[in-house]
Amino acid sequence: MKNLFIKNFGCQMNLYDAGRITDLLAKSHGLTLVSTPEAADLIVFNTCHIREKAEEKLFSELGRMRKLVQQRAQGDDGDVVFAVGGCVGQAEGMEIFRRAPFVDVVFGPQNYHELPQMLDRLAQRQQKICATSTHATDKFDHLPATGQSGPIAMVTIQEGCNRYCSYCVVPHTRGPEWSRPVADVLDEIAVCLSQGAVEIQLLGQNVTTYKAMDSDGTIHDLALLIRRVALLEGVRRIRFITSHPADMNDDLVELFAELPELCPYMHLPIQSGSDAILRAMERGHTVADYRQWAEKLRRVHPEMALASDFIVAFPGETEQDFQATLALIEELRFDHAYSFLFSSRPGTKAASMVPAVPLAVGQQRLADLQDTLNRIQLENNRQQVGKREEILVEKQSRTGQGLLSGRTRGNRWVNIPGPREWIGRLLEVEIVEGFPNSLKGCVLPERVV
Ligand code: SAH
Ligand code: SF4
Ligand code: F3S
Repeated sequence: MKNLFIKNFGCQMNLYDAGRITDLLAKSHGLTLVSTPEAADLIVFNTCHIREKAEEKLFSELGRMRKLVQQRAQGDDGDVVFAVGGCVGQAEGMEIFRRAPFVDVVFGPQNYHELPQMLDRLAQRQQKICATSTHATDKFDHLPATGQSGPIAMVTIQEGCNRYCSYCVVPHTRGPEWSRPVADVLDEIAVCLSQGAVEIQLLGQNVTTYKAMDSDGTIHDLALLIRRVALLEGVRRIRFITSHPADMNDDLVELFAELPELCPYMHLPIQSGSDAILRAMERGHTVADYRQWAEKLRRVHPEMALASDFIVAFPGETEQDFQATLALIEELRFDHAYSFLFSSRPGTKAASMVPAVPLAVGQQRLADLQDTLNRIQLENNRQQVGKREEILVEKQSRTGQGLLSGRTRGNRWVNIPGPREWIGRLLEVEIVEGFPNSLKGCVLPERVV
C-alpha cells in the first residue's frame, strides 16, 4: 500500500481530522497523499451527517466508487482498501457495510487514531472492521506531530458538544464535549508557526465553553487560551469558530479591543429570530440575549464582522416566526451567513416535532431569507470600497483571470490581480469594488510582508 486519497465532507473539524489522518498514515504506513481515487491504494471518505443532503451525497458518491473498487479487484494493481470515517461512520456504523458492501473499514471521528492498527488487522484477517466509540480523550495522545502547515493552521481545541440543540446530530456523532489540554494546543500551534503559519484558527463545535488545564494547573477558558496563543512568536492572526450565544462572556468580547492579533470576526449563529422557535430548538438563549452580544461586539471593535447561521422551516415555524427572522436580519445586518432548510435527523428531538412546514413553503422561505442576506451583504461590501485592508492571500481565484483570493481580517474574500508567488503572504490592499460574496482590491505598493 503506497498511496492515500481522502475525500472530505462537512465542517472545518473534519478538514482538520483529514490532515491528521494524512500525517498519521504517512508515519505508520509511509502513505503519500494523492489527488485522485484512481491513483490510491487506500481511499478514505471523511463524512458529514449534519443534514440529510450530506448523507445522500455520500451514498451517491459511494455508488460511483463501486465500479472503481471492482475494476481494481479484477486488475493487476492490487485491491484498493476503502474506509468510511467521520460523522456518518459514527451514526450509521455497520449499516454502511450493508449499503456499500465493498467498504472494508468504518470508523468514527474519535477513532481515527486507531487506523494504522485497523489496516494491519484488515491485512491479516481480511475481515471488515467497524470502530465507533466516542472517547475523544484518547485520540490526541496517539497522533504524530502535525505535518506540513500552510499559512493558515487549523487547530482543534475542543471535541464534541453537550448542548443538544433539538435539531442537531453533533452531540450524537462527535460525542460529549471535551477540551484539549492547553499545552497540547500550544505545542501544536508552535509547530505550525515554525512551518510558516501566520493565521491560527481555533476549532470546536462550541469553542465558547473551552475549559482546560495548563501544565501548572491553571484553568484556561477560551479568552485566556487566546491570550496565550497571541504570545507565541510569529502569530499574526487568530480566529476561533464556532461560538454559542448562550456561552458568551464579556472577557471574550473585551479581547477584541485588547489583542491586535485577534481578527474582528465573530461567527455567532442565532438560527432564528423568533423566541418561540429558539425555545423549540432548545438553544438556551433569546433574541434579546443575542442582540445584546451583537451590540457589545460591535461597540468594542468598530470593524467587527458578524456572521451567523440560520435554519428555516423548523417544525412549527409560522409565517410570523419567519417574518421575525427577516426583521432581525434587517436590524443586525449580518456581514456573512449560512442558511439551511431544516433537515429532520434520526435520533434528535426535533425529528418527532410537529407540524412540519410544507417543503414548498420552506423552500420559498429559504429563498426569501437568502435574498435578504445577500442584499445586505452587498450593501455592506459596497461600503468597504475605498478602505485599506490587510489580506492573507490563500489561493488563485476560482474566477480564473489571473486573480488571487485572500481574506481580510473581517473574513471577507478579496480578489486581486497578482502573481502566484504572493500566495501565503499578508498584503495591504485597497478595496475598489464590492459584490454580494466578495470584494475586488488592488495592492498598495508598501506590502506588509
Ligand atoms: N456548533 C455550531 C455549528 C454546528 S452545525 C453551532 O452550534 O453553531 C452548523 C450549522 O448547521 C448550524 O449552525 C445549523 O445552522 C445547521 N444545522 C445543524 N443541524 C441542522 C439540521 N438538522 N437541519 C438544518 N440545518 C442544521
Ligand atoms: Fe449542534 Fe447546538 Fe452543539 Fe452547535 S451547539 S453543535 S448546533 S448541538
Ligand atoms: Fe458534519 Fe460532523 Fe462536522 S456532522 S458538520 S462533519 S461535526
